Amino acid sequence: MHLHTLAGSLAALVALATPAEALLRFGCAQLVVQRLDPLVNPGQIPSAHLHQIIGGNSFNVTMTPVEHDLPSLSTCTTCQFADDFSNYWTAVLFFRARNGTYKRVPQAPNLGFEGTRGGMTVYYMQDALFNSGQGSKAAASKVTAFKPGFRMLVGDASFSTRAQTSKYRQLTYTCLQQRSTRSPETLGFPDKPCPAGIMANIRFPTCWDGVNLDSPTHQDHVSYPAEGTFESGGACPDTHPVRIPQLMYETIWDTSAFNDPELWPLANATGGVQQPFVWSMGDRTGYATHGDYMFGWKKDALQRAMDSTCYVNCPMLKTQTVAEQNKCSLRDSVQEDIDGWLTELPGIDSSKMAMPMN
Ligand SMILES: *[C@@H]1O[C@H](CO)[C@@H](O)[C@H](O)[C@H]1NC(C)=O
Ligand SMILES: *[C@@H]1O[C@H](CO)[C@@H](O)[C@H](O)[C@H]1NC(C)=O
Ligand SMILES: *[C@@H]1O[C@H](CO)[C@@H](O)[C@H](O)[C@H]1NC(C)=O
Repeated sequence: MHLHTLAGSLAALVALATPAEALLRFGCAQLVVQRLDPLVNPGQIPSAHLHQIIGGNSFNVTMTPVEHDLPSLSTCTTCQFADDFSNYWTAVLFFRARNGTYKRVPQAPNLGFEGTRGGMTVYYMQDALFNSGQGSKAAASKVTAFKPGFRMLVGDASFSTRAQTSKYRQLTYTCLQQRSTRSPETLGFPDKPCPAGIMANIRFPTCWDGVNLDSPTHQDHVSYPAEGTFESGGACPDTHPVRIPQLMYETIWDTSAFNDPELWPLANATGGVQQPFVWSMGDRTGYATHGDYMFGWKKDALQRAMDSTCYVNCPMLKTQTVAEQNKCSLRDSVQEDIDGWLTELPGIDSSKMAMPMN
C-alpha cells in the first residue's frame, strides 16, 4: 500500500471514530457537605437530610428561581468548566457499623480527574454515551440547553423497594472492581464489598415541557422519552416535546476502609440487611437514591457546547485547573458533626428507619 493511501485510510478511520455529537464529561470538587436543600426544603435550616453539593458558590438555603442568578451571584465554581455555576447534589453515603454507629463514606475522584477533592463527575450528552460511530439515527440530534432558573429532581428519597425505583430509568450503582469498572449496574446497593468503591449513577429525564422552569414535584415538567430510551433515540412525548441534554452524575464512594467482611452485618437467616451502607435519608436498600439540579451556566455557554462537536474536552469552554476547582468552597452554615462515629444520621430518627426486606 502506498504511504498516502495508508494515511488516507487512517484519516478516514479517525473521521469515522470521531463522534459528531457533543458530550461533556467533567469533574467538580466538593463545594460543601451540609444539611441544606434549596429545591425540596427552601428556607429550611437544617433540611431533612444531609447532602453533598458541587458547583457554584452561590448555593444557599433559598434560591428563588430566576431572581437567584447563579452565574452572577457566584464568585467561583468547583467545576472544571469555569462558566458552569450550576449546583448539583445528592444524598450522602454512610457506613453502619455492627455496633449501630455511622461513619460518613469519603468521595473519591473519577478516572481522569485525579487530585479533585471529593465531588462528582458530571455529563451533559447530546446523544448516548458509546453510540458514536454506530450511524444510529439518534446521532447528532439537537438538544435545547436548560434555561436560567431551570431546576429538577430525579428519584424519591422515600422509596424502599425495587418496584418503586423501577419507575425511574437508570438510577443505578456500579460495584467498582477497579476505578474503570462500568458494568454491571444494579438498582439496589451492591451486596458484596466493592474493592475500588461504589459508583452511584444518576441519569435525569431528557424531555422538557418547554414552558416550566420547575413544578411542584420538581419532576413533572420533565419526562422520559415516549417510547424507547434516550440511548435508542426515542422521541419525546407530546406533553414534553423539547429534547434536553442527558444530564448524568457519577459519584464514587470510597468504601475501601469498610470492605473487611468482619465489619459487615452478620448473615441473617431470616433475611434483612446484608450490606452495611446507608443513605443519609436512612435508606439501607439504595432505592431512595436521588439527584438534584439547578442550572447555572453563564449565558449560552452550555448551548454552544451542545451545538458543537466537543467530546469530553471542549476547547471552546473556559477550563480551570484542579487546584482552582479545589480552592472554591463554601462555609458549612449548618455546623453539625458529620464526620465522627455518629449514633444517629443527621436529622434522622433511627427508630423510624425501615429495615429493608429483600
Ligand atoms: C445566603 O442567604 C442569606 C440570606 O438568606 C445571606 O445573608 C447570606 O449571605 C447568603 N450566603 C451566601 C454564602 O451567599
Ligand atoms: C463502633 O464500631 C466502629 C467500627 O468498628 C468503631 O470504630 C467504634 O469505635 C465503635 N463505637 C463504639 C461506641 O463502640
Ligand atoms: C434479621 O433480619 C430481620 C428482618 O429484617 C430483623 O427483624 C432481625 O432483627 C434481624 N436479626 C439480626 C440478628 O440482625
